[in-house]
Amino acid sequence: MLEKIKETAAYIKARVGEIPETAIILGTGLGALVDHITDKQFIPYTEIPNFPISTVEGHSGNLIFGKLGEKPVVAMQGRFHYYEGYDMKQVTFPVRVMKAMGVKTLFVSNAAGGMNKEFVVGDIMIITDHINLFPENPLRGKNYNELGPRFPAMTEAYSHRLVNLATEIASRKGIRVMKGVYVGTPGPTFETPAEYEYFRIIGGDAVGMSTVPEVIVANHGGMEVFGVSVITDLGGKEVTDVPTHEEVQKAAEAAQPKMMEIMRELIAEC
Ligand code: HPA
Repeated sequence: MLEKIKETAAYIKARVGEIPETAIILGTGLGALVDHITDKQFIPYTEIPNFPISTVEGHSGNLIFGKLGEKPVVAMQGRFHYYEGYDMKQVTFPVRVMKAMGVKTLFVSNAAGGMNKEFVVGDIMIITDHINLFPENPLRGKNYNELGPRFPAMTEAYSHRLVNLATEIASRKGIRVMKGVYVGTPGPTFETPAEYEYFRIIGGDAVGMSTVPEVIVANHGGMEVFGVSVITDLGGKEVTDVPTHEEVQKAAEAAQPKMMEIMRELIAEC
């Protein structure tokens, strides 16, 4: 694994002049941030050695190097989901590579179903913590001390500094933001009403099918992490709405301008 990470990092470094210290995983709700990146250089995943091969047609994905405002950034346009069939090492490989290239801070976004009864569709939730309900931890197996410790702490998986700064930015801009705990599940099923209820009872505010693996690996590598969810549907025992992929996409798109505004400012200021 170490050799593959090094090989991939060296390949990308050879193609790109300056390696940014800031990386963004453009999940649902943040795709349009690409339009704000200037001096863009695209590297399709298909050209990157050792990158997972996309299983979804038309979803090949790109690494995008450029500038967001003054700040050099690298963005992942398209991520690898566990439900697509990738294993946890494949899902998190790009984060390993980013770390090896010198990235220090990781920003992630996702769409999530809300269990917190104060949430409404279209809300933005700053992730303060997570609960890993994936069947496997991405760090399972041999540990490479070069990558991080065998038993990494997850006490501050989401940087308090960045949570506070994002909260301040949202309040300055008059954008309603919620804060909460993200429950990461393998998917691809949405939850049964009883499952939403269960996730709420164990301390979750929103549930989704991504983010947790990448955040674990970023923390293992000592990166500072910020995550945000857009609440695209609500779940619970008394909720009878049936969530669909289309509804999730639509709600995420509607919330995109708010999400982007916070993220742009946060990345500029942090
Ligand atoms: N559950 C799981 N993942 C999701 C949901 C949900 O309700 N909404 C968007 N992603």
